[in-house]
Amino acid sequence: MPLEQTLSIIKPDATRRNITGEIIARLEKAGLRVVAQRRMLLSTAQAEAFYNVHKARPFFRNLVEFMTSGPVVVQVLEGENAIAKNREVMGATDPSKADAGTIRKDFAESIEANSVHGSDAPETAKNEIRFFFSDLDICG
Ligand code: CMP
Repeated sequence: MPLEQTLSIIKPDATRRNITGEIIARLEKAGLRVVAQRRMLLSTAQAEAFYNVHKARPFFRNLVEFMTSGPVVVQVLEGENAIAKNREVMGATDPSKADAGTIRKDFAESIEANSVHGSDAPETAKNEIRFFFSDLDICG
């Protein structure tokens, strides 16, 4: 199976609780490799642009407010079938619907403060990785 890359974000609820290491350990145990990583505070304009696809959704303003409320850790994860594998390890968006043993089931506070984001498809992954990283930042 070919190597794939996906964009991961450890969200402000997780940086606030200082559990980024526990989350990264889950990703690594699943066979995903962190090949780029940056801790940063998103600006409102950056959060709006990143989540532009959700612009018309009722939760958009709250989402932007939450994503700018504290630092995030943005990462490129690499591995076989990395996009699907990361989504499996993260669990469902709504933690009350997430499978046992997933990151969101174990760590998320709510559907909004759900600890992690992961790209949902190859085209999205490519665009989301490019949003945060250049080729020079990525070392597999
Ligand atoms: P994420 O995978 O980052 O993609 C969009 C985010 O919007 C989602 O995780 C949640 O953090 C947030 N969100 C807030 N409310 C909802 C909702 N009702 N449905 C889906 N996503 C929501």
